[in-house]
Amino acid sequence: MELHEIILSRHSVRDFSEEPIKDSELEIILEAGRLAPSAQNRQCWRYIVLQDRSNIKSFARHIGLLGTVNFFIAGAPVVIVACAEPKRSTKLNGQDYYLVDTAISFQQMMLAAWSLGIGSCWLAAFNEGSVRKYLGIPDNIRVVGISPFGYPRDKKSLYSIAAKSFAGSNKRLAKEQIITKEKWNF
Ligand SMILES: Cc1cc2nc3c(=O)[nH]c(=O)nc-3n(C[C@H](O)[C@H](O)[C@H](O)COP(=O)(O)O)c2cc1C
Repeated sequence: MELHEIILSRHSVRDFSEEPIKDSELEIILEAGRLAPSAQNRQCWRYIVLQDRSNIKSFARHIGLLGTVNFFIAGAPVVIVACAEPKRSTKLNGQDYYLVDTAISFQQMMLAAWSLGIGSCWLAAFNEGSVRKYLGIPDNIRVVGISPFGYPRDKKSLYSIAAKSFAGSNKRLAKEQIITKEKWNF
């Protein structure tokens, strides 16, 4: 797929088929994250890759918000936990760039995955303390995001239909609402 096509067709995937992700595909996905740009090239991101099905199922039970929220990751063949070491990144204008750096890197992984037909879904609704405890992540590391990766399943669960509808996932603001030319003019 051309990049334009990848961007136009990408959407969050919450229902996964049983088809495993090949090591060669996972390699492409991880490499896309590794090659991402970062402020001062600090590369503060660190990733934990879960591939063991029983570990993924158990992890899904431990990510911790309201029990069933985001439990759908239990059905994915791969889950990646995006972490960052804030001290390795930089702060400019009072803004923490570890979040920006890690988001760029993780999104590159997701776009690379989609170019292979592999879906993903950013997750922010997790309990960081529970995730940290379950995975043995030390205190100096923040958990920035989590995503399942897998081939999309045709049959959608009620949960994923509801999640998509709740978030209004097909809607985007109009260009005039987000872009102004030459100066701030909203
Ligand atoms: C930072 C971030 C956090 C998100 N957290 C969740 C989440 O916890 N659970 C979930 O099901 N979707 C989550 N999403 C997915 C959004 O709901 C989705 O991207 C949005 O509705 C647009 O839909 P689309 O990705 O299908 O285009 C998150 C997306 C982003 C970028």
